[in-house]
Amino acid sequence: IFQKVLVTRKLLKTSQQRLEQQGFDLVQWPHDSSMPRQALLDGVKGAQGVICMLSDNIDKEFFDAAGPHLKVVSTLSVGYDHIDLNQARQNRVKVGYTPDVLTDATADLTVLLCLAAARHMKSGIRACESGEWREWRPDWLCGYQFKGKTLGVVGMGRIGQAVAHRLKSFGIERIVYWGRNEKPGLKETLNADFTSFDQLVTESDFVVACCALTDDTKQVFNYDVFKKMKKNAIFVNTARGGVVNQDGLVRALEEKLIAAAGLDVTTPEPLPTDHKLFKLDNCVILPHIGSATIEARETMGDMCVDNVVAALNGKELPFELK
Ligand code: GLV
Ligand code: GLV
Repeated sequence: IFQKVLVTRKLLKTSQQRLEQQGFDLVQWPHDSSMPRQALLDGVKGAQGVICMLSDNIDKEFFDAAGPHLKVVSTLSVGYDHIDLNQARQNRVKVGYTPDVLTDATADLTVLLCLAAARHMKSGIRACESGEWREWRPDWLCGYQFKGKTLGVVGMGRIGQAVAHRLKSFGIERIVYWGRNEKPGLKETLNADFTSFDQLVTESDFVVACCALTDDTKQVFNYDVFKKMKKNAIFVNTARGGVVNQDGLVRALEEKLIAAAGLDVTTPEPLPTDHKLFKLDNCVILPHIGSATIEARETMGDMCVDNVVAALNGKELPFELK
């Protein structure tokens, strides 16, 4: 008996092979583009398993289109704000994701953006390429270092903690964090203090967003918040574009209320090439590549395949979102 599985994009090489070895009746979008909505809705009809991307909207319409046989949706991401979890629960569909394996990759990229934003990397590259680099100058492109500074982490989950550990070794002196609850043990391991959101944004030199996008974090970074930050503050977002009120960020950067921003996530994605943020020298933008290492992405693909195999065999998902 065939088990229909929808996979909305090609996976990396070894996980794609693993997928093809399962003997599923596989519906997979064959092009190097995300699966158009209608193809997604048509493709999921009668499916028992789905592997989706964070760019696919897994909402009520999707579950309705799938029908009653759907057992599992596994997303190639740690974030799950694109999935209607209530609807999944109602339909008794298990949800799988890929925690842990992308923590290091994403934490590395967060550090990269902190450095890039703090050290004028965008202006530096532009100056090299445009010929504006005429000579060595003592006061040119001077930024900020980590030593002695305060790091504020919004969302002290696996990724936030990995960022904190990295930046501690770069000389960060004080770590504060905000999130749903205080995390036991972080005082001992990181000397990190749980604070209010207000205290975090007021006191931190580096503010990094590593949180999930939820009702609690939606647009928490708005103009008024940026206004409260230090003038030398560096804001980095590797979470979701939705945690930022982007017009507020544009204004704050234009008015130099904060020093610079580094963004791996925006609203929308992709950000239109004529967007104001691209024109700002003090804003470095990357195209949502936090987890984009070969190691992480191969493992993420394998985890999705393993989740679907387990669910279709009536077993517990090895990587289930609960
Ligand atoms: C990437 O943004 C992820 O959620 O894995
Ligand atoms: C998710 O955001 C994590 O920290 O792993």
